[in-house]
Amino acid sequence: MKIPLAKSDIGIDETAAVVRVMESARIAFGPEMTAFEAEFARYHDVPDAVMVNSGTSGLMVSLLAAGVGPGDEVILPALTFLGSVNAILATGAVPVLVDVLPTSANIDPALIQPAITDKTRAIMPVHLFGLPADMTPILALAKANHLLIVEDACEAVGADSGGRKVGAVGDAGVFGFYPNKVLTTGEGGMIIALDQALVDRCRAMVNQGRHSAGVSLPGHSLRGTELGAAIGRVQLASLDERRQARTSLAARFREVISDVSGVSVPWPPSTERSWFTFPVLLPPGTDRSRVMQRLTQAGIETGAYFPALHTISGVGAQVRQSGPLAVSEALGARLLCLPFWRGMTSEPEMIAGELSDALSNS
Ligand SMILES: Cc1ncc(COP(=O)(O)O)c(C=O)c1O
Repeated sequence: MKIPLAKSDIGIDETAAVVRVMESARIAFGPEMTAFEAEFARYHDVPDAVMVNSGTSGLMVSLLAAGVGPGDEVILPALTFLGSVNAILATGAVPVLVDVLPTSANIDPALIQPAITDKTRAIMPVHLFGLPADMTPILALAKANHLLIVEDACEAVGADSGGRKVGAVGDAGVFGFYPNKVLTTGEGGMIIALDQALVDRCRAMVNQGRHSAGVSLPGHSLRGTELGAAIGRVQLASLDERRQARTSLAARFREVISDVSGVSVPWPPSTERSWFTFPVLLPPGTDRSRVMQRLTQAGIETGAYFPALHTISGVGAQVRQSGPLAVSEALGARLLCLPFWRGMTSEPEMIAGELSDALSNS
């Protein structure tokens, strides 16, 4: 592929960090992970953080550590990555889908209250494509109904939300560090929480349930890696600079895409966002697969995500739908994610031109 969808932003400093770990002979559960957790917590102004092996594990563990389980319901947007819903299903709780707003693709706060039942234990807002969900009404709803908030910040590391960093607004926040993310450790993730006791339970649960207080909790083997942590520390140190570069790139994309007839970018410009990928909306009725096929032929990789969760085979039967999910369905059918990575030169113009051609020929 001439222009891939994502490119990890890693360089010689990350390589040097990996070599440092290899030469130290301490290649698991060592000082790099301890330092990465402390630095990540400091960046987010929270007391502590726990590195895990993936964002999905982090979401599952933070729910379990907060006591979510069978018989409970967890509210989340219908438009998100499978990892959000799989994490809830793994706890034994029922995911309850709520529709999203057409202008942000994030959960519609006005639809949360009608979704709350006496079984609801938690709300999982997702900061989709790096745009923070509207947390003020969600915090108020959680407080009024005594619900936990676990933020799925897997796509939004570095984004701001009303003076806090995303993930540090609710009771717990979870990040994913897969290579398409703004901060990568290869595979990996991080849990942060405001309550030290909750963080301690998460730390125990990702390490066979071994708690520093001597008690044993339900446990798994979901630890982060020492090599990943070493990479993550370098990535965290340059996060703000890389986020800024991506903000400028997004502004350029917005401009060139405005010339492509019928294609819209409904997300409002936001200084709080940490751009993950660049999603656009194709005109209604477009044969998206055909457009993608034509772009592939031109050497441009694109992504058709995310489909609304309940439309995915095998998922629909395991979730409860709270009301119509028409916006999620419509966005899910029309979204197209364009290549987006730091270091692009003439690519945005080339992508816009090819997209325009692909639409007129599809
Ligand atoms: C919204 C969202 N939630 C959860 C995850 C899960 O992260 P991971 O792939 O690290 O398990 C991702 C990662 O792609 C994501 O985009």
